[in-house]
Amino acid sequence: MRKQDNDLLTKTDAGTPMGDLIRQYWIPAVKSEDLENDAPPTRLRLLGENLIAFRTTSGKVGIFEHHCPHRCASLYYGRNEDEGIRCVYHGWKFDVSGQCVETPTESADSNMKDQVRATAYQTRERGGLIWVYMGSAEQAPELPAFEANALPEGMRWVKCGLRECNWLQALEGDIDTAHLSFLHLGALDAEQFPPGSPAHYFQKDKAPKFEVLDTDYGTMYGAYRPGDEGQMYWRIAHFLMPFWTMPPGGPLQNNIIARAWVPVDDEHTMFWHLSAPIPDRPPIQLADNKGKGLVGIHFNLEANQYHDNDWLGRYRYKENESNDYGIDREVQREDSYSGIDGVHMQDQAITESMGKIVDRTKEHLASSDKMIIMTRRRLMQSAQALSEENTIPAGVSNPEIYNGQRAGEMIIPQDADWLEKYQEICQESVNKETVDASKK
Ligand code: FES
Ligand SMILES: [Fe+2]
Repeated sequence: MRKQDNDLLTKTDAGTPMGDLIRQYWIPAVKSEDLENDAPPTRLRLLGENLIAFRTTSGKVGIFEHHCPHRCASLYYGRNEDEGIRCVYHGWKFDVSGQCVETPTESADSNMKDQVRATAYQTRERGGLIWVYMGSAEQAPELPAFEANALPEGMRWVKCGLRECNWLQALEGDIDTAHLSFLHLGALDAEQFPPGSPAHYFQKDKAPKFEVLDTDYGTMYGAYRPGDEGQMYWRIAHFLMPFWTMPPGGPLQNNIIARAWVPVDDEHTMFWHLSAPIPDRPPIQLADNKGKGLVGIHFNLEANQYHDNDWLGRYRYKENESNDYGIDREVQREDSYSGIDGVHMQDQAITESMGKIVDRTKEHLASSDKMIIMTRRRLMQSAQALSEENTIPAGVSNPEIYNGQRAGEMIIPQDADWLEKYQEICQESVNKETVDASKK
């Protein structure tokens, strides 16, 4: 890859082609439960912009550029009171739309307040998540209708975590099926799994073949390995514009999941995981029941997180580069491929280890990287088409293209058409009610 292409893909500040592309879409910003009515504002960095988020007395959410429009004091120190945020420097107050509603340092007959606005972004709330629109269109588009964002309370996971590297290399880990048999499951042999189980197939053949397709909403892959006699085992996953993935963590029939890789700035990413609850235990059965090799295979996404109040202080991990992610070399020798505890932390360690912004001019891409190659191409083309021809990218004005997609596994007859089978299963399984409810 040329350096200028890597820059195009990885730089997301306002005014960059990728930054402008992402600003066309709704962006997951804060968990609903993290903003209490009348509580102090939270610092929030998104796409390199320092913002504050707060919830008013009546429950409305404001997300603002943090500098007060009077003389640029930080509204983070402000008072969240009576339907607005008040700057503590001179007492000017702003409602959630950013409109200045009081300028107590001016004389009572001044109309100064009518002329002043804080930079406030539009927000929406759905499925336990507050979304922000940082684009320039006056009329924000519809929210995307992912199944995973329409699950009722008690039946959903809304989880997040800070990853300390560029958004795209973090995302690429989620559409890279080849690493599963190594990073996460490399200490296990096919024979340890019951015949007929998915893990048996993917540990038996660690070099899957791929079909990769451009789709309306992004890209998808079907990775296939031989199953039992006459059968083929498929793993299907998606990239959805501009930063969404659906990875294949279970059978297509019930794998409701969407994950977002949101640039915090060019060297930090907020990872969002929306799904039905995933049990905190190894998702796979062993034939010999000994558990050997299963150490560290769990999906606890929020283990050892902490918060502080700085711009990067939300949902950080205590295991990080400074302590080698808690790697245990003895466990690595005996019982786990990586020696790092947890599937999520393994991904975290490896994608961060590539450098804050991976230098893609040094890569040697192979056939197992086809999905990643096609996804990069799609993102570059979309960013260029927007900046050069003002072409609105996929999913902005037509978010219904996301409907009805699932990632997951299927075992089908060897000579069956995989796409047809995939569509059949999705049509039967995707809960239309859930999708419709998400539009409300
Ligand atoms: S700087 Fe905020 S009111 Fe003066
Ligand atoms: Fe992974």
